[in-house]
Amino acid sequence: MALWSGRFEEGVSEFTQRFGASLPVDKKMYEEDIAGSRAHAKMLAAQGIISKEDQEKIDAGLAGIKKDIEEGNFDFDINDEDIHMAIERVLTQRIGSAGARLHTGRSRNDQTITDARLCAKEMAKGLMKANLTLRKSLLDVAKAHPDVIMPGYTHMQHAQPVLFAHHMLAYYWMFTRDFARLHAAYDSADANPLGSAALAGTSYPLDRQMTAKLMGFSRVIPNSMDAVSDHDFQLDLQYACSVSMIHLSRLAEEIVLWSTSEFGYITLSDSYSTGSSIMPQKKNPDFAELMRGKTGRVVGDLMGLLMVMKGLPLAYDKDMQEDKEGTFDACHTLHDCMICMSGMISTMTIHPDAMANSAQKGYMAATDVADYLAKKGLPFRKAHEIVGHLVLECEKRGCQLSDLSLEDFKAESPLFEEDITKALDIPSCVKARTTEGGTAPSAVADQMKKAQAQFDADSAQLA
Ligand code: ARG
Repeated sequence: MALWSGRFEEGVSEFTQRFGASLPVDKKMYEEDIAGSRAHAKMLAAQGIISKEDQEKIDAGLAGIKKDIEEGNFDFDINDEDIHMAIERVLTQRIGSAGARLHTGRSRNDQTITDARLCAKEMAKGLMKANLTLRKSLLDVAKAHPDVIMPGYTHMQHAQPVLFAHHMLAYYWMFTRDFARLHAAYDSADANPLGSAALAGTSYPLDRQMTAKLMGFSRVIPNSMDAVSDHDFQLDLQYACSVSMIHLSRLAEEIVLWSTSEFGYITLSDSYSTGSSIMPQKKNPDFAELMRGKTGRVVGDLMGLLMVMKGLPLAYDKDMQEDKEGTFDACHTLHDCMICMSGMISTMTIHPDAMANSAQKGYMAATDVADYLAKKGLPFRKAHEIVGHLVLECEKRGCQLSDLSLEDFKAESPLFEEDITKALDIPSCVKARTTEGGTAPSAVADQMKKAQAQFDADSAQLA
């Protein structure tokens, strides 16, 4: 019989019992549920609502249950709707009426959301830790290859040469923003709903500040109806996961491209590659592809919860039970993807020659040649047009800008002199982009210092 069966003459069918249950998903929150119940009981005793003896029995009983669950000795029942009922049922079986007093002044509505908030905080912390692991790999690979030049792309066409380190640091900053979003999601979850009961608060003199303190919440949710129905913290967390997955997916896509024969910029280590069951030569970037694919799942989880919440009237609605599966999935998926990407990045081999050779193609010095003319007084628009003609000439001849003679250049503009070779030199093009945040080695060295400082500051937040 369910713990709420008093006003019922018949039990639910086996099918609806299974259909309505959340136990298979919310089992995962057993630790949070026990922590919440221990805090609640302690507060009930402090307020004189239950006796000290009952509270001690409850506390010891819950500690025993925690141990049993951890050791696989807890007897989950098909009739347990959720983790809250499973634990309360077994507690009451074990300690009798003290166990039956635990739920005084509490509803599963505030209980379940309390557990979900505690869980979200833990998951956000775990994700922030994995985020730092990934960022460390990106910093290390950038530091290890400070001079490697590669083509920079726009529209996937050769645009301007950049440092490989600059390219890696661009991802580093994306994941740095993800850290801030995860941190914000942590803060969003960090508020105590317990004591709101079903929706309206209770007539017992509960001390919500006390339970907040005992459970490590930094504040109390000021409105009991909002408290039992607010799932923004899970949306915030899932949004942070989704954006981070999108960043991972973009990086994964580049890794897939760079490991093709066409690019050949990198070789993934064997431990982050797979073979083919039919083609003996194959070395596939499966795990990069998988991360790209898993992004769909995580964004789907976010969309799912947004749709669950859309149009729900206050206060608690059973629809809300759908909140946890996607949140767990999104967090778990992002976590493992960050660990996977970190390992992939730190074990891959970089091929600087392939990158440098590729950077010689595609007229990537064209902007610098136009700048050369503009710096000699020609309006930039005019300079752009002249270099456009030179590129067209190269296309016709099937050569690069650096293959043209000084006469070829002079035929387009008398401003060209011997020193045009410097503007055509790819490493010089990179070196020249000294703007703050630019790709020149000097600017990238400055950027690296900022990246390291941000890394240290974020690490300190987790310590
Ligand atoms: N298992 C439910 C959930 O996860 C908690 C119970 C909510 N309360 C209720 N009256 N059905 O949302």
